[in-house]
Amino acid sequence: MSARWVLRCESWTLGETHRRWSHVGTYECRRLFKGVSAVGGAALGVGYVQRLPKTEDHQMAWSQSMSTRLYTDFALPVVLQTDPETAHNLTLKCGEALQAFRSLWPSLPMEWLLSPPEGRLQGPELSQQVWGLTFESPVGIAAGFDKNALLVPLYRAGLFGLGFAEIGSVSAKPAAGNARPRCWRIPSDDVVVNAMGLNNEGSDALAQRLREMEATSSGQGQRPVGVNIAKTHDPSILGPAAVEDFVQSFRTLSPLADFVVLNVSCPNTTEGKTFEEPDALAGLLSAVAKEVRGRAKPPILVKLMATPDSEEGRRSQKELLNVIEASGIVDGLVISNTIKNPEVQLSPEGRAAADAIGKGGVSGRVIHQRSVAAIRSAYQATGGRLTIIGVGGTDSAEAAYEKIRAGASLVEVYTGLVYKGPGLFQDVQTGLRRLLERDGFNHIGQAIGIDIK
Ligand SMILES: Cc1cc2nc3c(=O)[nH]c(=O)nc-3n(C[C@H](O)[C@H](O)[C@H](O)COP(=O)(O)O)c2cc1C
Repeated sequence: MSARWVLRCESWTLGETHRRWSHVGTYECRRLFKGVSAVGGAALGVGYVQRLPKTEDHQMAWSQSMSTRLYTDFALPVVLQTDPETAHNLTLKCGEALQAFRSLWPSLPMEWLLSPPEGRLQGPELSQQVWGLTFESPVGIAAGFDKNALLVPLYRAGLFGLGFAEIGSVSAKPAAGNARPRCWRIPSDDVVVNAMGLNNEGSDALAQRLREMEATSSGQGQRPVGVNIAKTHDPSILGPAAVEDFVQSFRTLSPLADFVVLNVSCPNTTEGKTFEEPDALAGLLSAVAKEVRGRAKPPILVKLMATPDSEEGRRSQKELLNVIEASGIVDGLVISNTIKNPEVQLSPEGRAAADAIGKGGVSGRVIHQRSVAAIRSAYQATGGRLTIIGVGGTDSAEAAYEKIRAGASLVEVYTGLVYKGPGLFQDVQTGLRRLLERDGFNHIGQAIGIDIK
């Protein structure tokens, strides 16, 4: 045997041994890793579930709060590290990606996202007919979340179990809004402060998008989508020009909307609340009435501020409601918009943060009570003739139920989604069924305005 042959044999043996051992080693390591991950994952899972609330209705509480808990425990800490407007834009981008994916692959099984099982629980009926439209769930998404109508097909399909959506505000002319930063969070009080300044792409662009979406939609889902319109954010557009600006958006968008909301209460424009003065509002409503004369019109709603819960506040709300009822064209109210920063009571820490921001409208749990009071007084003043969408600080079924008992037929959420995540839609539905059942109602309609009757 030559030396070279021996060397070759040896190197072959060594190489083969190494290959075998390294193979066995990798295989064993992989198994070990899988085992440790499985045990670790199971331990974490068990630990996590142990932390979930235990009530006598444990099964329901568990399913009710699982997605919200996952959001608040894992996603919210990341969200809070991100600039609010950037986080919001990323959320819309994710929605657009989901929408694109869904249109490319229509058979994609998305039941778990579009109609989660909790929403289909037995119990008192939540579905209602309002203005001739079917609202399978009373919980929708508020204006400002999707100003440019990017995700309409997902709303129509009932993403995360939402019942309806209000897109906008949109104005006749495109507007860049105020300079950034213009949106802040105050986590100590679960609050958002915004001074966006009605940034939007304008009513023509929005109308075109809505038409395109309608043409390409697969016809899946018919949840109502309303359009919220506002005057273009430009202080030089005043008086009759401001009315014409509003009417132009109404003309362009009303044929494409299930309902139209006239936003007369945005606190973030340089000119302030131009149309929340009785005479100005009367002028606007008479111009819209002229526009719809002799034509089929969508349901028209007016979005108001939550006037202070005082004699003076109720008197000024009553003046506006008289104008609204006298117009003969208004079918409902959205109560309320954000509340001006200095008027809101916050924790000392929250107040210090809000003072540092200075401007803007406050939204979140802290405005819930004022919104409820404004809903109650509007329901009382109109004898329930105008259907009310209650909005402002709804972040639980209890808050939604309080608004319903005060006179709201439907509720909307925005800031609650930031702090609780999209599971909120399901939480509110499940919780509402429980609360209605507890109070002996078998249909949501029986609870509307019950605290006033
Ligand atoms: C960032 C942001 C932007 C908003 N933009 C609009 C808007 O364009 N039009 C409008 O009518 N309301 C707008 N709103 C007000 C909401 O529709 C809602 O009335 C208010 O936030 C109170 O509800 P919430 O406490 O559930 O957030 C906006 C709210 C936020 C937080």
